[in-house]
Amino acid sequence: MCGIVGYIGKKDAYPVLIKGLKRLEYRGYDSAGVALYNNGDLLVYKKKGKVADLENFIKDQPTTGFLGIGHTRWATHGKPDDLNAHPHISGDGRIVMIHNGIIENYAVLKNALIKLGHKFTSETDTEVLIHLIEELQKRDNLPLEEALRMALTKVIGAYAVVLIDKKDPTKLIAARKQSPLVVGIGEDGDFYMASDATPIVEFTRRVVYLNDEEIAIAGIDGKLTIKTLGNKLQNLNIQELDLEIEALEKGGYDYFMLKEINEQVATIADAMRGRLSVEEGWVKLGGMEQYLNRILRADRIIFTACGTSWHAGMVAEYLIEDLARIPVEVEYASEFRYRNPIIKETDVVIAISQSGETADTLAALELAKEKGALTYGIVNVIGSSIARVTDAGSYIHAGPEIGVASTKAFTGQTTLLTLMAMYLAHLKGTISESYFHELISELSLIPEKVEKALKNSAIIESIAEKIKDSTNAIYLGRGYNFPVALEGALKLKEISYIHAEGYPAAEMKHGPIALIDENMPVIVIATNKSAYDKIVSNIQEVKARKGIVIAIVTEDDEIISGIADYTIAIPDTAEPLTPLLSVIPLQLLSYYIALKRGCNVDQPRNLAKSVTVE
Ligand code: F6R
Repeated sequence: MCGIVGYIGKKDAYPVLIKGLKRLEYRGYDSAGVALYNNGDLLVYKKKGKVADLENFIKDQPTTGFLGIGHTRWATHGKPDDLNAHPHISGDGRIVMIHNGIIENYAVLKNALIKLGHKFTSETDTEVLIHLIEELQKRDNLPLEEALRMALTKVIGAYAVVLIDKKDPTKLIAARKQSPLVVGIGEDGDFYMASDATPIVEFTRRVVYLNDEEIAIAGIDGKLTIKTLGNKLQNLNIQELDLEIEALEKGGYDYFMLKEINEQVATIADAMRGRLSVEEGWVKLGGMEQYLNRILRADRIIFTACGTSWHAGMVAEYLIEDLARIPVEVEYASEFRYRNPIIKETDVVIAISQSGETADTLAALELAKEKGALTYGIVNVIGSSIARVTDAGSYIHAGPEIGVASTKAFTGQTTLLTLMAMYLAHLKGTISESYFHELISELSLIPEKVEKALKNSAIIESIAEKIKDSTNAIYLGRGYNFPVALEGALKLKEISYIHAEGYPAAEMKHGPIALIDENMPVIVIATNKSAYDKIVSNIQEVKARKGIVIAIVTEDDEIISGIADYTIAIPDTAEPLTPLLSVIPLQLLSYYIALKRGCNVDQPRNLAKSVTVE
């Protein structure tokens, strides 16, 4: 949802900004821009399209300057074009600003500003905010940070903003509320600001994560000041980044998505590291220990998330109810936060989020906190907002996920949720010792089984070739694999733009079967032992209507390969662990179909990685 980057210091700002924008491009890629302070003037370049288009546009223009800001946009207010692209400039040309978020009361503010004589050139909410800052700065002759502080007290909405005042080029000023912002503290007294740490890590590992309603003032004199909107000075909470630059590169793969699919052998192992021992026969989650009694006594566990993370929550419902016998509900965060849900102090609300910044998930958590529930986060991005607002939590340690379609985060989340279910089940005594030990040893084998499942890529690529021109697809799964069917369908639609739906296999008869004809690919996850015969019947029903069946089966399966048009075999495992393996061929299938349709796999249209607006 827009990437923002800023720099002040001894280096030339432009190379820092343009590289930073490339790192942040996964957050939005419909237009991009930079502003540089250059000898008393502001150079502002902005362009519809990708960061590469902007770079190309600027290549013969002056770009020197020690102070600058850059933005890559995911449009909210106003279409993606050069005018609506950021940075935005105040009416008097004095201040320049980039913004990630939404100013919800922009229309009221805009009308008031128009009455005061302000003229607007874009359709954005951001331009309204900068005119408001300009108005307050002029009216009371305020320094920029004061005008910003005053303006933000009048604003309803979410923002991470970075600003430059050309009349005072000694500082870079930023503020945040509900949209992330990190300040990097360089070795030579220079400062970096960005939506996440990825543009910063190659310059410094020392960072400060800005909290909601804080303003940061980074001076050319090497001084960093942080204060609240209430003008209260804050102590600097400097943290060390734990992030490797190699993790931000494609490492020889054509796309981040393919790299991230293949990384799952390692990332699933990383999610388990220190949390399970086959030799000693234990499972534990350090994050849960402090609140263990409260979690074990919980009346309900409520998972709240969006998109793929919500699908991981669905797997968790099957896992925790099946193994630990604790009632579970799974809620779309966007619905949960607004539907006046019943939340009690005896509930545990668990947010699942790769980015840790999803606006709806964050708001759902805040509601849960308000109602007195214990809140827990299952998050990938270290130091993210969700990780910071929850009472406790566990990181999935998947490393940066840059492809917009989530892959390794899903299996990382599912691994963690499996550990959680096993931990609770063992403590509650709801599964036998022998089954507990069987699950531990099966879980420890998952990384090598994922490696085996990945070896199917040539078969999957050939199936992709056969069905790439389809306009629709149906995904079917039962039990633990129903959420995987939903996830497979989401992966296909988001990157290949083929309409796809996931259903519990038996639901097909209640409507979707009407869609099946000789052009309809039906992807069936048929690895469940408990409902095997029923899945075979579901496949027969599809075949009887001439549907094209692509079945995900276990390696020893003989029956389904005789019925299905195509089969993809994956290693066998304990049934609660099958989602960790059955999702792999579905990720690869959507990847190859999208590739063959000429789609931009890593940056699908209309999407962005981190959804910081509701
Ligand atoms: C799909 C996808 C999205 C995210 C969703 C939640 O591939 O990536 O559906 O899962 O936007 O994002 P996080 O997990 O960051 O809260």
